[in-house]
Amino acid sequence: MSLKGRDLISIRDLSREEIEEVLKASRRMIPIAQGERSSRALDGRLLALAFFEPSTRTRLSFETAAQRLGARCVSIADVASSSVRKGESLYDTTRMLAAYGDAIVLRHPNEGAGRLAALASDKPVINAGDGAGQHPSQTLLDLATMHEAFGTLTGLRVVLLGDLKYGRTVHSLAHALAVFGAELVLSSPASLKLPPDVRDHLDQLGAKVVEEDELPKAVKDADVLYVTRIQKERFGDEAEYAKVAGSYRIDNALLNSAKSRLIVMHPLPRAGEIAPEVDATPHAAYFRQAFLGVPVRMALLSLILTGKAG
Ligand code: CP
Repeated sequence: MSLKGRDLISIRDLSREEIEEVLKASRRMIPIAQGERSSRALDGRLLALAFFEPSTRTRLSFETAAQRLGARCVSIADVASSSVRKGESLYDTTRMLAAYGDAIVLRHPNEGAGRLAALASDKPVINAGDGAGQHPSQTLLDLATMHEAFGTLTGLRVVLLGDLKYGRTVHSLAHALAVFGAELVLSSPASLKLPPDVRDHLDQLGAKVVEEDELPKAVKDADVLYVTRIQKERFGDEAEYAKVAGSYRIDNALLNSAKSRLIVMHPLPRAGEIAPEVDATPHAAYFRQAFLGVPVRMALLSLILTGKAG
């Protein structure tokens, strides 16, 4: 089925074949993302971005992706600069963005905001993170990073480490990895385990999932170590955050016992979970991962706005 005109709210909105189509198209976009080739595939299109939570990578990579393909952007980069501050609803805000742009990219602190926006909009809506819910375009770039490193997703042993409760990137990624037949190793503080509904969903998919809270054991035999930040902003109680803050850290001593081909990923920003010394090792994939956000979002925008892969 074509992605033209479709919303992307959850990674579950895409079939395995559709994910593969985006990943294939994104590989062709890399020279354009690097400025080695130019394209006007989205000439005359306008992307409307509304970010009601902080972002560096997602907002700027969507804007970069649109502009590399000849589209233009309008954006609300901060809730304080919008009429939301005057009490305007998400529904009304989305109606306006849909009237101005050809597609909407929305980040919002409330889980379910993307679905609500999609109901309000007659233009495609891309969920760029809804609270502790989903972050589907992040998953596409995460998969692209793993595919670039290993040439496949099937059979990879992937450790999901950290805040599995509030981390929206892992909620999306776990589904996609299960669909592609990867093996999941869940490693988290006891209070930050994967929500039961996400875990049940993985079981329904027949995913291979194990839990291993001892980090050296989790890392041994892993192909991918996907590290997440503890989502401090989602904790209702500061004291609960204090109990888990700083409870894991990846450093070279830990990685000495890992497979030589292990890649360390992180959606970023990091807040102390990966020691800077790791950056200089062949394991560090997180900056490449962030770059791949541009070609992946180029492919996604192209397929959603035109139905063509560039
Ligand atoms: N990975 C990610 O969503 O980063 P930002 O919060 O900087 O957009």
